[in-house]
Amino acid sequence: EGFLPFEHEPYFNFGREEVAEQQREAYRLVREKYVGRTFPMMLCGQPVGGEGTFEVHNPADTREVVWRFPKATPEQLEEAITCAKAAFGEWRFSDPMQRATIFKRAAELLRARRMEFNAVMGLENGKNWAEADGEIAECVDHFEVFARETLKWAQGKPVYPMPDEHVTMVYEPIGVVAVISPWNFPAAIPLGMALGAIAAGNTVVWKPASETPLSSLLLVELLFEAGLPRNVIQFLTGTDEVLGDPLVDHKDIRMIAFTGSKEIGCRIMERAAKVQPGQKWLKRVMAEMGGKDPTVVCADADLDAAAQGIVQAAFGYAGQKCSACSRVIAEDSVYDELLDKVVTLARELKVGSPEENAALGPVIHPGSANRVMDYVEKGKGTARLVLGGERAESGEREGGYIAPTIFADVDPRDPLFQEEIFGPVLSFTRARDWRHAIDLANDSEYGLTAAFYSRDPQKINEARRLIHVGNLYVNRKCTGALSGTHAFGGYGMSGTNAKVGGPDYLFWFLQTKTVAQKY
Ligand code: SER
Repeated sequence: EGFLPFEHEPYFNFGREEVAEQQREAYRLVREKYVGRTFPMMLCGQPVGGEGTFEVHNPADTREVVWRFPKATPEQLEEAITCAKAAFGEWRFSDPMQRATIFKRAAELLRARRMEFNAVMGLENGKNWAEADGEIAECVDHFEVFARETLKWAQGKPVYPMPDEHVTMVYEPIGVVAVISPWNFPAAIPLGMALGAIAAGNTVVWKPASETPLSSLLLVELLFEAGLPRNVIQFLTGTDEVLGDPLVDHKDIRMIAFTGSKEIGCRIMERAAKVQPGQKWLKRVMAEMGGKDPTVVCADADLDAAAQGIVQAAFGYAGQKCSACSRVIAEDSVYDELLDKVVTLARELKVGSPEENAALGPVIHPGSANRVMDYVEKGKGTARLVLGGERAESGEREGGYIAPTIFADVDPRDPLFQEEIFGPVLSFTRARDWRHAIDLANDSEYGLTAAFYSRDPQKINEARRLIHVGNLYVNRKCTGALSGTHAFGGYGMSGTNAKVGGPDYLFWFLQTKTVAQKY
């Protein structure tokens, strides 16, 4: 009761000085309370250390170690899976209303601490205030949405009746789910996968990205505080050597819910296919991977709106989103004008520290910056550089700062057009007409998001029908899916099309039982 209606969590307006001051204050508190600490894992309900620790660096200045986390041992992984398995025995029969109530309570707890969570995320993954706020608001939405989805799926579904049998079809949980998550959305992405698992009555072994474990740990603790039995989530940090393949390969893991790179996703899919001795099921794999997301701009489009959407989607969080716009495909007759507008807006983006809320922060680490710069240097030989193309300064800080970079006249066969770069690099390609533009948009192995700008209903209809992506946005930017509304997940090599936050998501974590009874 009291679960409806649903409203998306509103964002903070940092343009108001008193709100901005609250965010600064939250940074001060987080620095006081968390920086320099060594945090625990959560194993069988207890906070524990491991064998040694690893450092988490502030991407804004990688010389700064913000906190440390334990390295789990192979024995601890074994223990975690054993505990998760034992906890499944009870949790699978837990009352759906109990689960929903825990999620509702967690939403309340998180609402009160959003600024703090924003600051933690800023310090470990380099998101500025608005980007972090969008993600934490999404976490509140996830709690609210999964509370409702829990109750919905607990109902089962009606079947066509028979005169002489009573037939029901119900959904049951499947077992222990490994949650393996990336650094770019260290709160909302693992939370979506973990809530999917536990809303369905499964238990979880959660392995966060080593770049960003605290954003995840704080959510686990919040769920415990909200009343989640502590054995339902096992939270382990450490090396891929201990927590990568061995977790995926383990015979007692029923499902792997993964979000990250295409390479790792494919590797997990392949390894999970092998049935291990003692394994009594075929493992399920949810693998949400990359994107090479296009924005198509037709000649009749509102070019100012398109330019704004493109700049936000291409350079928000320095382009480090699977949903980021990395290709602009524009009709010949508006190509130059649109390019001008986009370059003008992108040139204004101030590069600097996310803690100070600069529009464009660093990429996650120096290695990542090198990778991005490799693409940029090669691009200079194959396309026309119109903006950036170099590293950017941010005072005395040492970080992967890269100037907003735009290439024009990019050939569809160029890596700039085909490969996911995960940095502030945008490519423009000219289309003969709008149909050609749609063909070019589809010229990719990926199919995650796309934006289409036009005012013509006929063109829009064609785009709706033909653009081969899981999330198509018409006359708006291609990032910022909202939980509960924009079910998120792609086509092609973007992955398994899990559609997190959507009405079918929980099905991934369930199996279906038909009971036919004669009296
Ligand atoms: N859900 C995010 C977005 O839509 C990406 O993971 O931008």
